[in-house]
Formats: sequence, structure tokens, C-alpha cells
Amino acid sequence: MTISLLAALLRQNHAVPLHVPGHQRGRGMEPLLRALWGTALAQDLSELPALDNLAQPTGVLREAQAAVAAVAGSDRAWFLVNGATGGLLAALLATLNPGDRVLVGRNVHRSVTAGLVLTGAKPVYLGVRVDPQWGLPLPVTKEVVAAGLAAYGDAKAVVLVSPTYEGLCSPLVEIAQCVHEHGLPLIVDEAHGSHFRYHPAFPVTALAAGADVVVQSWHKTLGTLTQTAVLHLQGERIAPERLSQALNLVQTTSPSYWFLAALERAGYQMAQQGQEIYERLLRWVNRYEWPLPRWQAPGIPQDPLRLTLGTWPIGLTGFELDELLQPQIMAEFPSGRSLTFCLGLGTTQAMLETLADRLNTIYTEYRHHAPLAPLSLPPSSNLQESPCSPRDAYFCPQVSVPLKSALNQISAETISPYPPGIPTVIAGERITESVIENLQYLKELGAEMVGAADPTLQTLRVCKV
Ligand SMILES: Cc1ncc(COP(=O)(O)O)c(C=O)c1O
Repeated sequence: MTISLLAALLRQNHAVPLHVPGHQRGRGMEPLLRALWGTALAQDLSELPALDNLAQPTGVLREAQAAVAAVAGSDRAWFLVNGATGGLLAALLATLNPGDRVLVGRNVHRSVTAGLVLTGAKPVYLGVRVDPQWGLPLPVTKEVVAAGLAAYGDAKAVVLVSPTYEGLCSPLVEIAQCVHEHGLPLIVDEAHGSHFRYHPAFPVTALAAGADVVVQSWHKTLGTLTQTAVLHLQGERIAPERLSQALNLVQTTSPSYWFLAALERAGYQMAQQGQEIYERLLRWVNRYEWPLPRWQAPGIPQDPLRLTLGTWPIGLTGFELDELLQPQIMAEFPSGRSLTFCLGLGTTQAMLETLADRLNTIYTEYRHHAPLAPLSLPPSSNLQESPCSPRDAYFCPQVSVPLKSALNQISAETISPYPPGIPTVIAGERITESVIENLQYLKELGAEMVGAADPTLQTLRVCKV
């Protein structure tokens, strides 16, 4: 893989930068920031003649994107500077028209539901089973996708997340085949699986499984900067021009060249050293026996670098264990009954050692505590149609009502605990008893809830009907 973008960026050595950005190669930057970020500020540039233009790439950016597509195994790749979020919005905008029916995993990230607001598509949610011991959602199954396709002959696309935040994967090979037999495109949010291609111990990639559009949040697992992600296309079910056009609707006209060059170089790192790096990391990771159970679901492919440990056996919530580990150890994602750690390119043996020691100490202290009782979950249906589309709910006249009075009304807002960003309620859905209980439970746990007009959740915005 060539790295022409970074080389072009480093060649920019003009001494009189009379152009944006305003700090003009660091000269005008506030002194503390200049001291912190130093010479790298000289590369914080915009669309200079030799640097191409992300909105219509014909030069070094086009080459860099083509190189990343080749490394990742797609036909075409687009660099994203607004995270996987921008890619998911564009994927939906390129595929769906207002009023189109679309099958969407109910465990998708809130950026997909934002895409439903933008497109005006009508979702049918594909149900996910929540494990009562772990309180975590399992991936969408092939049977549920097949049931959705059989019941909704007018569907225009299928949108799934795989892997889940905890690293569990849907059977994408079978699902892609089934979706394609119905002549539809499969869009996969592979935000947490950008590294899968670079070692055979990882689950099959969405692209290798046959997905048409795949969005990878490179900053989550690869060696690049926060906000950087990649949108991939393969095959001919979706026109590349539509994706380019849609991305130009949702992305900035001034992308950071730090971001763009970081993506190119992260692709280069994977092409050159990916297998070797992961070989070493997996050897270390596999050595450890954790004192708490590890989230594994029989028959479901799983990312070995996503470590979700159950906290219920020692009577702790994930939030409580998280607090006990801080400030030295910072985990990724606490839930009511587990804590998830992201192991990755920067993880060392010493870090794993520290984690294991600390967990063993905590386990010894808490092991006689009564375990948390399994959850009693209401039955969930495989296919869920909302009374109203997310777009209609977003734009309809709305009113704030006390939480309890929202029962049976239609939500005008999408509210999610963050992380993981899977909505507890999506705009357009009916607010059931279990939605209210879940919102209260998450609030009590101390989860950060995003999307609500009233962050205290004492009131909810509902559609005025
Ligand atoms: C499954 C999933 N999809 C999409 C996103 C959005 O990614 P980004 O933060 O890169 O925009 C996230 C972020 O947490 C996510 O977990």
C-alpha cells in the first residue's frame, strides 16, 4: 500500500500561509495548545491545491481511499470525518426514499435511528433477545431476518449491527445470502469490527460475508484518530454516486487532514503489521483467567478482544465495579450486570496483568456477596412495527408529560444510555410499561442518558395526537 496522502501533507512547506485554518500552521495558535500539539499544527491544513478535496476527490485522497478499500477488501471506500455516524446516515440516505419500508435490528446505534429521521423510511424492527443473566442484547439471528423478509415483501433494505458492542456477531454469511435472494441490499454497521480482516482468529468480516455497504468506526479499534471512520461499498446494488452525494449532505466541507492522513496510515499499519500485532496481542489475552465469568454465547462468533465480564456473581453492577477500578483502570462500558473492556493495539501485557491483579483483589473481597438475581424480562416480538415513523414523530407537534403519564403514548424522542447508544425508546415507538421501567432503572444505575429533552427523565416528549 502506498501512502501518498501523508507524503503530500508532509511536502507542504510554504512559508507564507495566507489561508485557512486561522492559526496558519500553528503560528496563531493559543500558546498552551501550540506547546501541546507542536509541529503537528503545520499539517493542520485544508484543501490546498496538492491536497485534493474530500467532496470530489481526484488526486491523493482518491488514491488513499482506493488503497484503504484494497486493504479492507471493498470495491470502494470513503473516508469519514464525523465517525461511523456520518457513514450510517449516508448509507441510509443513499438507499432509502421517504416512506420506504426497511428492516432494522432493534439493537442498532442511535445514528441509524437518526438516519431514519433523515430519510423518512418506515422501520420494522428485528427483535433481539436479551440474556436475562447478563442483561445484554444478543445479535439479530438469521431466522428473525428471514421472518422479516417473508412478512414484509415491500422492504427495500436490511440494516444490522454486527458485531455488537460486546463483540458478538450475527451469522452474516447466511443473512447476506438470504437478503440477496430477496434482491435487497444489506447494510452492516461494523463500527466495532474494523480489525476483523487482519487476523484469522477474528469473526468473518461483513464485506467477506457479502454485505453491500459496511460502515467501520476505525477510531474504535484501529490506530487512528477519534472521529475517523470508513464507509465501504461492494457490488452493484447501491450506486456509488448516491453514496458520494449523501456523504456530501452530512459531512463537513473542511475535513481535518490530520484525520484523513491518520486513516491512510492506519490502513498502512494494518497492511504491513496487522497479523503480527494481533498474533501477539491474542497470545497475551488468551493467557489470562479472569475471576469473573466472560460473556460468551454458544454458537455465536465473538471478537476475542472485547472482554465483557459478568459482575452479577459478586452482587455488583458494572457501574460499581467500574468505580472500584478507577482511577487507575478505565473500562469502556458498564451495564447493570457487566463491565466491558476494549483490548486493542495499545494494550500491553503489563496492562492486562494490572487488570487481572485488581480484579482478583476485588473478587476476593466480594465473592461472598449474594449474586444479583437474573432479570425477569417481558417477552419481545421478532418483528416490531411502530405506530409512527421516526421522522413523523420527530416533526409532529409534541408535548412534555411526566414520565408515568407517558405510558401508551408515542415517543417523540430517541433516548439511549451512552455507551452503548442502543436506544431504550426510539421516536415513533409506543412507550410501554417496560420502557418506563428501563428508563428508571438506567437512571438509577447512573447511566448517562442522551437524546432526552429533559435529561433528568422526569418528563418525556411525546407526540400530540
Ligand atoms: C454500534 C455503533 N455504531 C455506530 C456508532 C457511531 O460511531 P461513531 O462514534 O464513530 O460515530 C457507535 C458508537 O458508539 C456504535 O457503538
